[in-house]
Amino acid sequence: MKAAKKAQEPICDANGVFSAYSEELGKVEAELLNLFESSAFMIPAIGHHIVSSGGKRLRPLFLILSAELCGYSGYDRIVLASIIEAIHTASLLHDDVVDMAELRRGQPTAHSIWGNQIAVLVGDFLYSNALRVAVNQESQKIMEALSEATTRMTEGELLQLSRIGDPEVKEVEYLAIISAKTGALISAACRIGAILGGKGRRYEEALSSFGMKTGMAFQMADDILDYMSEESEIGKKLGKDLDEGKITMPLIHLLQVCNDVEQKEVRKLLTGHDGGMANEHRLQRLGFLFRKYSVIDESMKRARGLVEEAKEAIKIFEPSPSREALICLSDYALHRSS
Ligand code: IPE
Ligand code: IPE
Ligand code: MG
Ligand code: MG
Repeated sequence: MKAAKKAQEPICDANGVFSAYSEELGKVEAELLNLFESSAFMIPAIGHHIVSSGGKRLRPLFLILSAELCGYSGYDRIVLASIIEAIHTASLLHDDVVDMAELRRGQPTAHSIWGNQIAVLVGDFLYSNALRVAVNQESQKIMEALSEATTRMTEGELLQLSRIGDPEVKEVEYLAIISAKTGALISAACRIGAILGGKGRRYEEALSSFGMKTGMAFQMADDILDYMSEESEIGKKLGKDLDEGKITMPLIHLLQVCNDVEQKEVRKLLTGHDGGMANEHRLQRLGFLFRKYSVIDESMKRARGLVEEAKEAIKIFEPSPSREALICLSDYALHRSS
C-alpha cells in the first residue's frame, strides 16, 4: 500500500524524498540510539547529544532507497541504515577532534563538551559496536563492504593530514582523498542496499559506483560550502578548511588558473608565510581571487560532472520511483545548503 502511495506521488525534490521516508528514518534513529547503549554512562549521554542535534540522515536514505530499488523492503534495511549512520557519526566524532572543530550541526561538538579522550573513545565504541551488530546479518558481503569503507575512511583522513598546508596537492590526489574519506561510506551504503536485494554483482557494482561518485560530489560541495555557506545554515564554522590548511577543490583550481604573482601570494597564504594575516583577511583575499577566476563555478562544474556519472551508473535499472529518488538525492548532494 505504502509503495503504491509512494509510486503515485511524483518525488521531484529532495525534501519530498526525505519526507516520504520520514517514518523509516524515524526507525533508523531509534536503532541508532540503541547502538549507544552501554553501562559506561558517557556513551548514551553523547549518543543523546548527537542524535538529538539532527543530521540529514542522507546515508541511511541512500541505503534504504538502494535496497528498495533492488526489491528489498524488510527490516534489515533499517538496521543496516542505522549501522551506516553510526559509522558516519563515529567518523564525525573523530573528525571534529582531528580538525579541532567547535561547532557541528549548530551545537558544540562532543569533544568540546566532554573532552578529546571521551570523544575518541566513544567514537571507537561506536565503530566497533556498529560492526559487532552487523555480524548478526551473517553476510560476508555486507561485512566486506563495511570493513572496506571504515578502513578507507581512516586512510583518507590520514592521507589528508599528510598533505595539510601543502599547496602542491593536485586534483588527482584530492580526488583520492575525498573518494576515501567520504565516497567509500556512501558507496558502501548503496552497495549494501543492493546486497540486501540479492540482485547480483552487476547491480551491486552499479549502485556502489553511484554512491562513490555521489559521495565525492557531496564532499566537493561541502568543501565549496566551507567558503560560501551561511554559518547558521550549515551549522559548522565557515572558512575552517583554510584555517586548518586543508587544500580543497576551490584552492586547487585557483592555483591552476591564477597568474604567477597571485600563485606566489596564495602559496604564502597557505603555508603561513604571509606575515601572520588573520584568517578573515585571507578569506577575503581568496574570495576576491575566486570571483576573478570564477573558481566556485568551475568547482561546481567538477562536482556536477561526478553527479552525472553517478546517474549514468544506475541507468541499468528500469525507471522506478526509487531510481528517481536516488537521482534526486544525487542532485541534492550538489545543491544542498547545509
Ligand atoms: C558531514 O556529513 C561530513 C562530510 C562528509 C562532509 P553530512 O553533511 O552528511 O553531516 P550530517 O550528518 O548531515 O550532519
Ligand atoms: C569530512 O571531512 C569528514 C569525514 C568524512 C569524516 P570534513 O572535515 O570536511 O567534514 P566537516 O566539514 O568537518 O563536516
Ligand atoms: Mg571536519
Ligand atoms: Mg568540511
